[in-house]
Amino acid sequence: MENRKVLVAGASGYLGRYVVKEFSERGYQVRALVRDPKKLVSEGPNLEPPVREYVTEIFTGDAVNRESLKDACKGVDLVFSCMGLTKPQNGVTSEQIDHLGNRALLEDALANGVKKFIYISVFNSQKMMNVDMVKTHEDFVQDLKASGMPYTVIRPAAYFSDMGMFFNMARSGHVFLFGDGSNRFNPIHGADLAKVCVDAVDGGNREIDIGGPEIFTYTETNVMAFEALGKQPSITHVPMWIGDVALFITGIFNKPMASVMLFAISVSGFDNVAPATGSRHLKDFYRELSSRGTA
Ligand SMILES: NC(=O)c1ccc[n+]([C@@H]2O[C@H](COP(=O)([O-])OP(=O)(O)OC[C@H]3O[C@@H](n4cnc5c(N)ncnc54)[C@H](OP(=O)(O)O)[C@@H]3O)[C@@H](O)[C@H]2O)c1
Repeated sequence: MENRKVLVAGASGYLGRYVVKEFSERGYQVRALVRDPKKLVSEGPNLEPPVREYVTEIFTGDAVNRESLKDACKGVDLVFSCMGLTKPQNGVTSEQIDHLGNRALLEDALANGVKKFIYISVFNSQKMMNVDMVKTHEDFVQDLKASGMPYTVIRPAAYFSDMGMFFNMARSGHVFLFGDGSNRFNPIHGADLAKVCVDAVDGGNREIDIGGPEIFTYTETNVMAFEALGKQPSITHVPMWIGDVALFITGIFNKPMASVMLFAISVSGFDNVAPATGSRHLKDFYRELSSRGTA
């Protein structure tokens, strides 16, 4: 009988909820680190489940205020963190969350005798070190490696939740894609990725690259979204140079938005196919989004 306790940071997010559920179903006690406990009670925007029933304890903290994370790790055996900045937040940088927020958690974990720290970075990060949202993950990875804490770093390719964003564009009637849409990638469902994350607790690998079971081009994933909605595909391929101009202009007025755009443009600029796992299919995810009328 499993009796270990894990702190899940980022428990209210897309991946975090599936990880909370997976840990709980394998018998772990789960402490969820969240900014807003109410989020745990309802379903997320990409069908990620409500997870309040799987959580043993809630710890409320905000990475922007690093003092608020003190003692988050007290009494836990393991830390899992997918706490990260994925959407623009006014005045908040990925350095504050991905790097310094996770570093504050690591310091707390070291002070409290935690036995392992599992962290989510980004697949192909070395190709995108010019992107803040990627570099800050890897800056934390360097801290983690230097700390002496046993660790596993997992670097996933795209999530189904990103495909939810394409689905929303398709629902609105039109999709804009950077580039010619021919680059390939293998997105993964949160539940499939959560299994890899929990297996990493006792697994020997310190670094894991991982993606989903099916490989698509960007154009294919978007055509599938239109098909799930019963609509004729309507896709505009925006040349990369226009993306760069849009990025420059956005950067003048809205730095947080420009940072997210730079990630989207960079990651779609090359093939991003990671070693495959999982059994959940994108077509089913789209079908479910379509039937719910949500996302
Ligand atoms: N999406 C992808 O394709 C992809 C691919 C590879 C790696 N990743 C990485 O995987 C991680 C998880 O991604 P996701 O899609 O699950 O993201 P998500 O749904 O946006 O979840 C991010 C989590 O971090 C929390 N968080 C953000 N700012 C915080 C703060 N100031 N203090 C405390 N918690 C904070 C969020 O809390 P709230 O709910 O309160 O906002 C949420 O629980 C991220 O680090 C992301 O960069 C994503």
